[in-house]
Amino acid sequence: MRFIETWTPATIIATRDLTSGIREFVLRPDGFTAEPYPVGSHIQVGVTIDGRPETRSYSLVGEMDPQGYRIAVRRAPDTRGGSRYMWSLRPGARLNITLPASLVQLDWTRRHVCLVAGGIGITPIVGAAQALARRNADVTLHYAVRSRADAAYLDVLEALLGDRLTVHAGDEGHRLDLNGVFATLPKNAMTLFCGPIRMLDAARHAWEAAGRPMTDLRYETFGSSGLLPTDEFRVRLKGEGVELVIPRDRSMLDVLNEAGHEVMSDCRLGECGVCALDIVDVDGEIDHRDVFFSDHQKRESRRICACVSRVRGTITVDTLRRADAV
Ligand code: FES
Repeated sequence: MRFIETWTPATIIATRDLTSGIREFVLRPDGFTAEPYPVGSHIQVGVTIDGRPETRSYSLVGEMDPQGYRIAVRRAPDTRGGSRYMWSLRPGARLNITLPASLVQLDWTRRHVCLVAGGIGITPIVGAAQALARRNADVTLHYAVRSRADAAYLDVLEALLGDRLTVHAGDEGHRLDLNGVFATLPKNAMTLFCGPIRMLDAARHAWEAAGRPMTDLRYETFGSSGLLPTDEFRVRLKGEGVELVIPRDRSMLDVLNEAGHEVMSDCRLGECGVCALDIVDVDGEIDHRDVFFSDHQKRESRRICACVSRVRGTITVDTLRRADAV
């Protein structure tokens, strides 16, 4: 699926702090009329980082809102600067956004749906919980956070789900046991997951260990979460004698495009694979942060999603042979 990116100017009409590190923004496009959007929808937001225009992707929180599009941004030091920019904005600020688009496909005929969220991964899950509860599905939500004080939207979710919501707060010693959760689900249950990539790996393994079809585990993650710290790295281009530095706050995709190499992209979330480049050589370690490639493909490391994945060291890629026909 390809997104059609239609950009539109918008105004921040309200902000509120949900926790000490998560702020909600309501963005109202000019000429806005509220229309339903699919579960798991996100929008792109034009941000400015060190004077450069960039884009960031944020999940929409909840179902259609008559006021505008609701997003929540976690202030995160180990990221590429988007959250810092968003947190600097006040109501009345103007920015450009795209219309909602979704890659998540829920099977609405399933009776049993298990929702799993890790940290800020709760944002797309809120709307899914509302839509499923409205359809009287048998829905449960497991929400993993470091501490209960870090859990956004608890009031909404408690009112919606009651005892079908379980909060797994690390500091209360109540860690999420995905093997245990998946083992007790009804046979034809489906799971929708959103959380950091380490947690997603655990979810995939637990799902497989429970003998469930991988197609019944639907997931999203965020490109800012990887297995290695977010640091500067170097990219060499095969046959071009060029070496580019990718700063810690920028993606390989953006730097390559700015240097005129025209790498195609679509979701910019590590989900579609359109930006995948062939890897020629690595001097160091690759941190695959996408959800497009399988575990096996990541171990083989023949290609890298330039929009989200990073490297510790230096990578040589071939920008001419993109894997957009994977
Ligand atoms: S643009 Fe979709 S994975 Fe990179």
